[in-house]
Amino acid sequence: MYIMLSNIDCVTLPHFNASTLIQNMAKPTAPKSQRSLRTALVAGLLSLLAACGGSEDAKNDPVTPPVVVTQAAAKVWDLSRAMGPGINFGNMLESPNEGEWGLSAKPEYIQAAWNAGFRTVRLPVRWSNHASAQFPYIIDPAFLARVTSLVDQLLARGFHVVLNMHHYRQLDDDLPDVGEFLVDPAILEDRFVGIWSQIGHHLGSRSDRLLFELYNEPHGRLTPAKWNSLADTTLKQVRISNKERVVIIGPTDSNSPYALSTLTMPLDPYLMATVHFYEPFNFTHQGATWVTPALPTGVTCCSPEQASAIFNGIHHAKYWSDANGYPVLLGEFGAYSAADMASRVNYTRLVRQTAAQANMPWVYWEFGSAFGVYDPVTNAFRPELLNALVGN
Ligand code: BGC
Repeated sequence: MYIMLSNIDCVTLPHFNASTLIQNMAKPTAPKSQRSLRTALVAGLLSLLAACGGSEDAKNDPVTPPVVVTQAAAKVWDLSRAMGPGINFGNMLESPNEGEWGLSAKPEYIQAAWNAGFRTVRLPVRWSNHASAQFPYIIDPAFLARVTSLVDQLLARGFHVVLNMHHYRQLDDDLPDVGEFLVDPAILEDRFVGIWSQIGHHLGSRSDRLLFELYNEPHGRLTPAKWNSLADTTLKQVRISNKERVVIIGPTDSNSPYALSTLTMPLDPYLMATVHFYEPFNFTHQGATWVTPALPTGVTCCSPEQASAIFNGIHHAKYWSDANGYPVLLGEFGAYSAADMASRVNYTRLVRQTAAQANMPWVYWEFGSAFGVYDPVTNAFRPELLNALVGN
């Protein structure tokens, strides 16, 4: 909305029917989640009117076509529609060192994912374990070259690539993984921005099909206020080298759609939002080793209650998207392998179809590990799961 306001000055203001806009936006019947945004827009319009010597009286405004309050540029919407089926190359580069979680990013996986019909790859990367602990937080050149080579292979194959920062454990106040090092807590945010600044400069010349996602699942130490401020500062650094690259930002509470209301999108038209959605959690994460207390196995999917939990979460994100004018990427969903295959297939198809009906691009979690659609032992896709993603 501020993008639009910033495009209006005292000369163009009379062309907007400000009074009608204000009246409509301030309507007490407007949905609650839209009201705070609208309040901000109303305040902006009122101060603009005052600064230009106008008034909010409808009679003073000429009749003009309605103004569409859209925040993301057309290019972002085009990209969101072009992303196609997506797959996370998870448990590869976001392990403390590539290969330590059982999987490395192999060229044959890139080809297999393309042949199967995926058109977006999200590449989670644990940069924090490969950058120096002191200013200027230099990224290990060998690691940067490795990630760059993968990004280039994926782009050359034709994929959209979502490159992120993943598992900077200390930033969320999580315990470090085996093989990780800690840094002075006072420099955590500065280091985050410094690492992004380097990534930005290094990859600034790449195709528009490369998207940057600032951080996976902010939570814990990253309160909404802290995260909103850090995202804003980081974006400004990234914009020095990547003026119009699409940057993706998700809310706290581990990218829950229900936390979108706490997310303040920076004033920038080349943004997309993202959410992760694993409801019903006791189904998708049954038996998962990293969840405490462990969730019992034997939960099936999808009952009418489970289906409506899925519908509600995805439509919550869709509603936010409509109200705020940014596309929302469903960046992760999936069911852990401890669930029975028939239920995983039902769940996967239902989430995929619900997201598609809501016009949300989606990326399945993940390629070849514990949620995997691909079996790296037999080097073949799991046909039922693959069909649930890219079939009918
Ligand atoms: C985490 C993974 C985890 C997945 C499902 C991801 O964001 O990075 O480690 O397996 O969510 O819980």
